[in-house]
Amino acid sequence: MALYTRVSGSVGMITLQNPPVNALSAAVRQGIVDMMDKALGDPKVKSVVICGQNGRFCGGADIREFSGNMTGPPLVPMIHSMESAAKPVVAAIEGIALGGGLELALGCHYRIAHSKARLGLPEVQLGLLPAAGGSQRLPRLIGVPAALELITTGRHVTAAEALQLGIVDEVTEQNAVDAAVKFALRVADASLDARRISTFPCPRPPATDAFFERAMQQVRQNARGAVAPVACVQAVRAAATLPYAQGMEREKELMATLFTSGQARAQQHCFFAQRAVNRWSMPNGARWDTSKPRPVRKAMVIGLGTMGRGITVALAQAGLSVVALETTEKQLMEAKQAVSGMLERTAKRRAVAPGFDKVRYSRDMRLAADVDLVIEAVFEDMPLKKKIFQQLSSVCKPGTLLCTNTSGLDIDQLASQTRNPELVVGMHFFAPAHVMKLLEVVYGPRSSPTAVATAMQLGKQMGKVSVAVGNCRGFVGNRMLKPYLEQAFFLLEEGATPELVDGALEEFGFAMGVFRMSDLSGLDVAWRIRKADELAVTDAPAGQSTARSRQGRRYSPLGDLLCEQGRFGQKTGLGWYRYDEPAGRVAKPDPWIQDFLERYRAQHALVARRMDHQEVLERCLYSLINEGFRILEDGIAAGPEDIDVIYVLGYGWPRHRGGPMFYAGMVGLARVLERLEHFHREHPDVPGLQPSNLLRKLVASGSPPVHRWKEVIKKLHSQL
Ligand code: NAI
Repeated sequence: MALYTRVSGSVGMITLQNPPVNALSAAVRQGIVDMMDKALGDPKVKSVVICGQNGRFCGGADIREFSGNMTGPPLVPMIHSMESAAKPVVAAIEGIALGGGLELALGCHYRIAHSKARLGLPEVQLGLLPAAGGSQRLPRLIGVPAALELITTGRHVTAAEALQLGIVDEVTEQNAVDAAVKFALRVADASLDARRISTFPCPRPPATDAFFERAMQQVRQNARGAVAPVACVQAVRAAATLPYAQGMEREKELMATLFTSGQARAQQHCFFAQRAVNRWSMPNGARWDTSKPRPVRKAMVIGLGTMGRGITVALAQAGLSVVALETTEKQLMEAKQAVSGMLERTAKRRAVAPGFDKVRYSRDMRLAADVDLVIEAVFEDMPLKKKIFQQLSSVCKPGTLLCTNTSGLDIDQLASQTRNPELVVGMHFFAPAHVMKLLEVVYGPRSSPTAVATAMQLGKQMGKVSVAVGNCRGFVGNRMLKPYLEQAFFLLEEGATPELVDGALEEFGFAMGVFRMSDLSGLDVAWRIRKADELAVTDAPAGQSTARSRQGRRYSPLGDLLCEQGRFGQKTGLGWYRYDEPAGRVAKPDPWIQDFLERYRAQHALVARRMDHQEVLERCLYSLINEGFRILEDGIAAGPEDIDVIYVLGYGWPRHRGGPMFYAGMVGLARVLERLEHFHREHPDVPGLQPSNLLRKLVASGSPPVHRWKEVIKKLHSQL
């Protein structure tokens, strides 16, 4: 787990060996302790180099150890004794030095990094803080403001930035281990008095108290209820205001609180869930991850509106040639200008070339003849999409993958318009498509594993987390959103205001409440879909329907009524809120809405009642979660992890609450069931509140933890 050799006569070399990232498992820590003893005890050894095998220094703690009892030597004393060593210790950082890996390097007397290495303390993203001295050493080394920023965000830095900040002493283009050995030979006899970071005084920022109060305020604002970033500020404050030993005590106390908090468990669940979505098999048993993806070099994007523009940018940035298609010259030119601007801005941020020449703008569908893949992003209109798929099927060369960015239409209906339905899949991006990390890859009953694999791989190439999901109305994310939105409307009917509902959801940790989010994405989009489904009020309800019910189910026409007034949200300056100008960003409560709701309630003889945040959360979130259970029951998502990844990365669900399905487990499945039963009794005409079969089965099976739900789902499927 750690290899010891002597090189160049007098340099003891310790190589960490724990693939893939040389995580600091118990065996690795034991190895380091033993090999350090060996090096220090060998009179021929004058200095020590510590490195990792396979070009990776160290990826940090072994997260799997978090859930069990820690064995082996603890990290803090191990790093401390390395720092106290009488012989110089040089870290040779290749690949990565993250978390505990960087903390280990900070315990060394010198750090040499390869130019391609990345360094950082990402613990905060797992609901923790760098508790092996990182929160105490880094501010002593690079100053409080820079350390605070790195520790509270978990941001990785390049070797060049690490050099500029003073984290590393040297950056090399050559092999970092060779450079470190040369360096170690050079400093063999140098004094170590000024090299032990724990002995450095921590530079105090001027007006220290005010500085930390400001920092705390800012961090709290961004944290949306997450406790780890707040604890990080407290730990760095301890570094700046207390002697090192006391600061270490504080670091330990803060870590103990975080470690046992539900938030750390939730964030670790997200971490593993994100990995798990990569290992998935199609329900027919065909594994996409063993099917070879087709190479995709050239793509076409059809429809350059909000989504098509972002998708074009994401494809070009991933190195593909893109043909971007629109209907009229005017729209094409507008899109060209917008895409060029987006390419330029993102290239500047990433310090790469903008790649303007990667995109060709055209109105000629015949150019689809030599592309490997097409992504259609025209209006959400089935007849229009069908026509495009028919055209593509006759123009494209054999084997071209045909993808749609539909928000929820039936993939199989589109596939049926083509000669090769196995080549049709959904690639559902999220706005803005060149920024958002999530991609739902939707397979229909006839999509081939190769087609799914190709779309998943392309997502990865674009830097997305791709989640494969089955074909149903709204797929996973939007299908779950429907009952959630519906509850928000019902709450308004019963007496709530948009501010109350959004306030409760934002306090829970959502980036944006449901009404602010709807205003941002445009109320007219869902309205058009409801109209197409003959649900919206103007399409006079027939048969068993009334103004507030459709086919015996409760229906709220509030959104339709708002759209009829031309209130489409932010873009028109009016929606559930008022904006100072069209496209203005600051949502202000609108007395008109208050009045409108009162008139509506009076018209339908509804009596407004007071309600609290708890009811808003339970009604909105439990109905969303209930739909999640139905999705699992239907086999649309492979497991609860898939749903959680989709919600955290695509819908602003707070990461520190682990995604909706994990959250249900945290609340207690029996409690969720009991509340749903209660709400369903009160609102029997709302099917979304009727507890799902799977939820009942899970509770009857003793509410197993989320990673064991698959066993119950399997049993349920085998009984069907
Ligand atoms: P949009 O209205 O902004 O853009 C659609 C574009 O398609 C327009 O520029 C239009 O000129 C163009 N178009 C229409 N017919 C065309 C044709 N025959 N050939 C070439 N171009 C044509 O719509 P948006 O929001 O970009 O949505 C596009 C698709 O993406 C829809 O299916 C929508 O449901 C889906 N989607 C939208 C999301 C959003 O947040 N806006 C998120 C995820 C998916």
